[in-house]
Amino acid sequence: MHPKLNGVLFERAHIIDEVRPSWLEGPFANRTSLVSGNFFMDTLPRGADAYLLKQVMHDWGDKEARAILENVRRAMQDRPEGSDGGRGARDRRINSTLLIVDRMMQKHATAVESQGTAFADLIMMSMFASGYERFAADFDRVLSQAGFEIVRVLPTRSAFFIIEARPANFHS
Ligand SMILES: C[S@@+](CC[C@H](N)C(=O)[O-])C[C@H]1O[C@@H](n2cnc3c(N)ncnc32)[C@H](O)[C@@H]1O
Repeated sequence: MHPKLNGVLFERAHIIDEVRPSWLEGPFANRTSLVSGNFFMDTLPRGADAYLLKQVMHDWGDKEARAILENVRRAMQDRPEGSDGGRGARDRRINSTLLIVDRMMQKHATAVESQGTAFADLIMMSMFASGYERFAADFDRVLSQAGFEIVRVLPTRSAFFIIEARPANFHS
């Protein structure tokens, strides 16, 4: 669909090792790279136009989610030379986008998708120490603590929402 886009999949080393053989056979092998690491400890791939976290936030409580987001924000700041419109490092606009794809809890859960999200919340609680499905206000709070502001929230035809966010302080 977007033949000029290139991507990087950042994952734990054992997952990368497992998926690499089939990935190399797949349609995106020539314009994607696989990078193994730990998003709490390691530097994330730097200077991308967009960072996508799909079903990552819900595994974690706010403290850990904030740490992941702060790491993303640091990676955004490291845009390559020449991508700041000539403004220089001091007045550099961080024009990178964060996209979070996750379920979102609804106050009045009547749709089947919303009920599924409430159920997913129970699963997160039982599987992970601090993971939970967030309401919009929860996303807003943890994103702003990590230095992001929400640009818009897009519903999809599924239970997932796409939250578009950008660094709240444009000048690094
Ligand atoms: C719920 S899965 C979502 C996977 C995929 N994004 C998707 O939507 O299907 C969360 C992923 O986070 C990865 N993960 C967990 N801890 C991590 C860490 N410290 N560093 C990097 N990735 C991690 C797991 O290996 C897992 O694949």
